[in-house]
Amino acid sequence: MQLSNRLSRFGSAVFFELNELKQQLLAEGKDVIDLGIGSPDLPPPVHVMETLQAAAADPDVYGYPTSEGSPFFREAVAIWYNNRFGVHLDPDSECMALMGSQDGLSHLALALVDPGDYVLVPDPGYPIYEVSIHLANGVPYLMPLTEENGFLPDFSAIPVNVAERAKLMILNYPNNPVTAVADRKFYEKAVGFAEEHDIAIVSDIAYSELAFDGYRPMSILEIEGAKDVAVEFHSLSKSFNMAGCRIGFAVGNRDILHALGVVKSNIDYGVFKAVQQAGAAALLGDQTHTATMSKIYQSRRDVLLDGLARIGWQIPKPKATMFVWAKIPFEMSSRDFARELLSQTGVAVVPGSGFGGHGEGYVRIALVQPEDKLQEAVRRMEESRILQVYQS
Ligand SMILES: Cc1ncc(COP(=O)(O)O)c(C=O)c1O
Repeated sequence: MQLSNRLSRFGSAVFFELNELKQQLLAEGKDVIDLGIGSPDLPPPVHVMETLQAAAADPDVYGYPTSEGSPFFREAVAIWYNNRFGVHLDPDSECMALMGSQDGLSHLALALVDPGDYVLVPDPGYPIYEVSIHLANGVPYLMPLTEENGFLPDFSAIPVNVAERAKLMILNYPNNPVTAVADRKFYEKAVGFAEEHDIAIVSDIAYSELAFDGYRPMSILEIEGAKDVAVEFHSLSKSFNMAGCRIGFAVGNRDILHALGVVKSNIDYGVFKAVQQAGAAALLGDQTHTATMSKIYQSRRDVLLDGLARIGWQIPKPKATMFVWAKIPFEMSSRDFARELLSQTGVAVVPGSGFGGHGEGYVRIALVQPEDKLQEAVRRMEESRILQVYQS
């Protein structure tokens, strides 16, 4: 059978290979500590699950929902944004439900990008960013995120002819996989650059609620004029541990949202109304849950990184996200290091190269296991002497 050429650009071989090795170890009865995929291991707030149960018992919720989301959900989004970021949104034209933010991320380029148009995308970056550009036959222009630049793109390094032909720029802070955060100055620069070159911005803030040591991430929409150029995508998957419910939302520039709505109305019929009710309950209910989640991830971060420091691997502590971005402390490809680590210790991490060329030399470790498992992961690394063997 002839498959599309496009298919070869979907999914990194590195991820498949590591997953195969993991499955092989599991089949051999080995114990794997999976710090790979960023899927939350904790439950949603109880009142959210109760709302979903009660809503699912209502026969009226089983009709087709609407692609853009029910008015009550969009209203809840507007209230949450105002409370959390002080950003005022019109629920009708500036808020839209998504089947997880992945839905918006995968379809936005179809609404904005013609074949051959550039899209400015972070490298390393969350994989759907680049895949979505290939879906729309656009051309990714990779913005390197390097330690020297605080893992922020350097807009002055983007050639003018690229900026002039770019339709869209994707930003993601707090960032997956590099965990970096962005401040007001950075967002002001981004908005200015987008205005100058007539580029739409999508800001992905899937991790805005998982932040540590008192740090509170901001929204790009707090910047004056941002609504003229930007939309922001948010997810209930991480903030409220609702990953399996598939609910998120898009807010901001009404023309961009309208265009995304046109694409989506041809593709899906929206989020199950009972799930939207649970999502609204999460957004309007007690927000101390996210603070509790952040404390749990912060404590896991400390257990893991203090443990790794003790055995000779110094990794800076991230201010946000559910990940650690760890520089491999010796010369070895991230693919080989992740393979060695998995086969010697049963600890699964993701090679940085799977997120793009500038991810080489790093691995991403997800804090999705309880503290005792993280301690066990450190213990196995110490016992295997993997750090010492390759360092010498
Ligand atoms: C940066 C980033 N954006 C978006 C998503 C997708 O989240 P959702 O479950 O809302 O589709 C993820 C999921 O891991 C992510 O890491």
